[in-house]
Amino acid sequence: MKTINIAIDGPAGAGKSTIAKMVSAKLGYIYVDTGALYRAVALYITENNIADEDIEKALAGADVSLRFVDGAQRVFLGDRDVSDLIRTPAISMAASRTSAIPAVRAYLFETQQKIARENNILMDGRDIGTVVLPNADVKIFLTASAEERANRRYKELAEKPDCPPYEEILQDIIKRDYADMHREISPLKQAEDAVLVDTTTLNLEESAEAIIKVINSKIG
Ligand code: DC
Repeated sequence: MKTINIAIDGPAGAGKSTIAKMVSAKLGYIYVDTGALYRAVALYITENNIADEDIEKALAGADVSLRFVDGAQRVFLGDRDVSDLIRTPAISMAASRTSAIPAVRAYLFETQQKIARENNILMDGRDIGTVVLPNADVKIFLTASAEERANRRYKELAEKPDCPPYEEILQDIIKRDYADMHREISPLKQAEDAVLVDTTTLNLEESAEAIIKVINSKIG
């Protein structure tokens, strides 16, 4: 049976995962956060101190996998659930760097395609519409201004004791955007047949509605 695949790409902090979770819950699809796969690989490389030239060989033993518990995605290294460990600024930066390594992308390519073949999914990432699922039924490019994305992140972190200043968060986002858009392999870019959704002036509900509208217009 053919599965329905919806690709959502966009820069860090555009609200992809929150919005994609809301939309997939409404549609009854599985939400796949591919950034978590890249983060898990970055954690593996960092923890094991693997040099770039050894990554390809080392990944054969990494055993990165996704499991779905009550519809929610968890990411594993072997039998260890690392879903929470991968959400640190250090792993964000490490993932941005290691995701540009061809051996890392090749390693995760088949994992992502297999999930899409077997399930109705809404998959978010950077190169889903362009590289991983070029034949996706619907492609969306979700973005917001860098300032608005920094603002949202700042508000999220404001309650925490070690919240970085707004300016630092903004510079981090700009740096990550640049790295993600300018890497040689699978750079972040809007697929030609993707619909642009800009959430700069939209709240979460409005953003989810905008995406559902696009989906209905394509496959409704
Ligand atoms: O979406 P995120 O912030 O969790 O992603 C972490 C890093 O992984 C980010 O720097 C870009 C990279 N990534 C990628 O290269 N391709 C994807 N499909 C998803 C994420």
